[in-house]
Amino acid sequence: MSAQPTICVVTGAARGIGLAFAQLLVARPDTIVYAGVRSLPLAPSRELGVLATGHPEVLFPIKITSGDEADNAAAAATIKARHGMVHVGIANAGVSSGLTPVLQTTAAQMTTDFYINSYGPLLLLQRCSELLLAAHAASPGSAKFVAVSSVLGQITEASNFSWTAYGASKAALNVLVKKINIEMPQVTAFPLHPGTVGTE
Ligand SMILES: NC(=O)c1ccc[n+]([C@@H]2O[C@H](COP(=O)([O-])OP(=O)(O)OC[C@H]3O[C@@H](n4cnc5c(N)ncnc54)[C@H](OP(=O)(O)O)[C@@H]3O)[C@@H](O)[C@H]2O)c1
Repeated sequence: MSAQPTICVVTGAARGIGLAFAQLLVARPDTIVYAGVRSLPLAPSRELGVLATGHPEVLFPIKITSGDEADNAAAAATIKARHGMVHVGIANAGVSSGLTPVLQTTAAQMTTDFYINSYGPLLLLQRCSELLLAAHAASPGSAKFVAVSSVLGQITEASNFSWTAYGASKAALNVLVKKINIEMPQVTAFPLHPGTVGTE
């Protein structure tokens, strides 16, 4: 481990794409991964539990529920106390409330998808902002914020699909990333469409 490892936080790391991020990141040299999950302790039999057991010095499960103030603040405080900075934040946690056409989409679907998919990444960025700026100050250009978005949030691509609330929440996420680009030039922020992945 070098004097200054790369400190990463990834949400929704218990399974799917977030777990894959955690698996790839722990395989990198000089990298510390905070793997966000909704509840702790992890079942040792779960894949992330196995990964954490195998990499106890570099992989730390941490409680981060998307959009939860207390979780995000506590996670940022823990990382600040240990490392003082975050180089890479990956807002991956996401949900879809379903394949529903415009006329049938409910307030509950809109609220859920926007809260978890749009506000969740925003709150993660807000609570980690001081730590991302510290990473930039220590090593200019090293601070990155990745929002796992979707092609369904792209206005020109969304028309053929009825993921109404989900697509709108990802479009909002894309706008938020653009705002981060404008207001926080010290942080390289970008949305990422992972492609169609056979997860749950
Ligand atoms: N799969 C695809 O084809 C695809 C395509 C485009 C974009 N994406 C995006 O990629 C990201 C990951 O998707 P995935 O396919 O890996 O989904 P997934 O298999 O359903 O996994 C979702 C992950 O998010 C976590 N999560 C759900 N609600 C949460 C909340 N309120 N707070 C914190 N964590 C929460 C889940 O935790 P639990 O294990 O506790 O439920 C799980 O770890 C999402 O943002 C999704 O929109 C996926």
